[in-house]
Amino acid sequence: MKRIHVAIAGFGGVGRAVASLLLSRRNRYRGFYGVDVRLVAVCGSKAGIASAEGLEPNQLDGMLEGLSGPEFVMAAKPDVLIEAGPSNFRTGAPGYGYIGSALDAGIHAIVISKGALVFDGKGLRDRARETGAFLKVSGATAAALPTIDLLEYNLKGCEFVRIEGILNATTNFLLSAMMDQGMSFDDALAKAQQGGFAESDPRNDTEGWDTASKLLILANFGLNAGLAMDDIMVDGIQNVTGAQIGAWKDAGLVPKLIGAITREARTYKATVGVQALPKSDVFSQVAGKNKAIRITTDTMGEIVTVGCGAEPLATASASLKDFEHILMATR
Ligand SMILES: NC(=O)c1ccc[n+]([C@@H]2O[C@H](COP(=O)([O-])OP(=O)(O)OC[C@H]3O[C@@H](n4cnc5c(N)ncnc54)[C@H](OP(=O)(O)O)[C@@H]3O)[C@@H](O)[C@H]2O)c1
Repeated sequence: MKRIHVAIAGFGGVGRAVASLLLSRRNRYRGFYGVDVRLVAVCGSKAGIASAEGLEPNQLDGMLEGLSGPEFVMAAKPDVLIEAGPSNFRTGAPGYGYIGSALDAGIHAIVISKGALVFDGKGLRDRARETGAFLKVSGATAAALPTIDLLEYNLKGCEFVRIEGILNATTNFLLSAMMDQGMSFDDALAKAQQGGFAESDPRNDTEGWDTASKLLILANFGLNAGLAMDDIMVDGIQNVTGAQIGAWKDAGLVPKLIGAITREARTYKATVGVQALPKSDVFSQVAGKNKAIRITTDTMGEIVTVGCGAEPLATASASLKDFEHILMATR
């Protein structure tokens, strides 16, 4: 049976969930795709472990100091790299090094962090094209919510007139708590932080950058839009006041942080900001930690998906959906 070797770079909540799901699905990969999947290397920022024969779950806590970095992972000669490290869209690091090394060597890359894809998505796509490697990004584009798949597979051939998304669970939770429970921004944020789904420094979410990053990746990978972060007008929810909340309630409107891409002649315009929607709008029903995307096409009408999986399993599972797409395409 053909062997498929997988390596994981970034071994925190998501990376560990990927490993656990991948190993638990080995029989599925044998049955569906006729491949013997082995996890041959994992690493965090300072330590890692590798085995040419494949790691078992009970070995994953035996990481050794010093075994980290793109060279360590590539030495394991994986067929597929799953990247689940931290995200920095201004530098791309550390994911950019791992992903670039993999693609240059013809190794398929499944990317979960957004930073490198925002920093130089075009460069990475070019490098993938040159070696014939797949570069898959479901985990970085709202993960369990199907977004990039809609553009790449489900709505193939359509012209996309407009794409709108509630793409960040934390800000949707905060706005819902302020509207539905009368909480202040600070109290809602404290609750989200206690629940472990808002960062101690929440600005990447609250100022709209996480939404903008997902939007940019969708635009460039799904629409070939060629946008840079500077092309997107980005505003968050950090300045929403109690008075505004009251006014929206009185007017029967529901505020949502929305990332939108609109086709304008041959270019795309992208924005992130709060929109106050009528209650009849389907996005108004997307409450709490749910996310949603609405795609308006020329010939297939308007498609909406809504969802929220338990993290980090949902994101891990989204990356393994990408893995199965690669298995299907390469068998
Ligand atoms: N958590 C979610 O629900 C979720 C959802 C969607 C997307 N994401 C994205 O998934 C990624 C991982 O999230 P997470 O929650 O798993 O984060 P996390 O728990 O903080 O884990 C990050 C991991 O990356 C490792 N790392 C840091 N620098 C590295 C380097 N230079 N080389 C290799 N590994 C390095 C860390 O190593 P150490 O352990 O040694 O520090 C840690 O193992 C992030 O980009 C996040 O934005 C997360």
